[in-house]
Amino acid sequence: MTNVNVDEAYNKQADDYDRFIVKLIPDYLRFNALIPRLAAKPGTVLDIGCGTGNTSARILEAYPKAKLTCIDPSPAMIGIARRKLGDSVTFMESPVEAFQTEERFDLAVSVMVMHNIQTTARRQEVYEKIYSALNPGGAYVSVDIFKGECDLSQKLFMKYWRDFMLESMPMDEVDGKWLALYKEKDKPLKMSEQLAMLKKAGFSSVDIIHKAMNFALILALK
Ligand SMILES: C[S@@+](CC[C@H](N)C(=O)[O-])C[C@H]1O[C@@H](n2cnc3c(N)ncnc32)[C@H](O)[C@@H]1O
Repeated sequence: MTNVNVDEAYNKQADDYDRFIVKLIPDYLRFNALIPRLAAKPGTVLDIGCGTGNTSARILEAYPKAKLTCIDPSPAMIGIARRKLGDSVTFMESPVEAFQTEERFDLAVSVMVMHNIQTTARRQEVYEKIYSALNPGGAYVSVDIFKGECDLSQKLFMKYWRDFMLESMPMDEVDGKWLALYKEKDKPLKMSEQLAMLKKAGFSSVDIIHKAMNFALILALK
């Protein structure tokens, strides 16, 4: 199930992740700051692809009593998240595709994770799994990268995103590393495709809450 190449890349990036992610994702900090404001006092929270734990840290700041479960296939990422979040959080080293639980959650979040899933069929299954894992009235918050709806908007997105990265990184790093990794590994969807897939998974309301270039936060309610 696990895409070994993706996992290895994230393992290697873990130590440096918090330093570079803000230079890669426009509004990364704003997306994470918004997330706790979208759920009314969640008792149980699932952080899918928790990485170094930045989203869960914001949730725990707002709701110290929330019971958090963090999953991620990368042991290096989980190690850093564990140090950041402490032992009250449950950690599981697993890709979302293989994750199994009897627990039901008030809030599920995935920040910059779903583009790692390599086929739309598998991504649809994952959305259905998230829907099933939520309590009635629960919320799923997804932040991710998108493709443009047409060639022109895709070209503009790529231009603006590259310009954003060039504000804080040299051109050889932007083109030779980050955009090369994106082209090789990432599987972003069009916004219209993702909204339709979440609806198909059963979510009753699906809304774009915040968008920055080709990145957006979607709130889906069960
Ligand atoms: C770009 S990082 C995002 C980390 C964190 N959510 C954040 O916003 O900072 C992507 C994370 O997703 C994890 N990941 C990759 N494939 C995954 C999968 N199939 N299921 C769950 N997590 C996955 C990676 O190990 C990595 O930690």
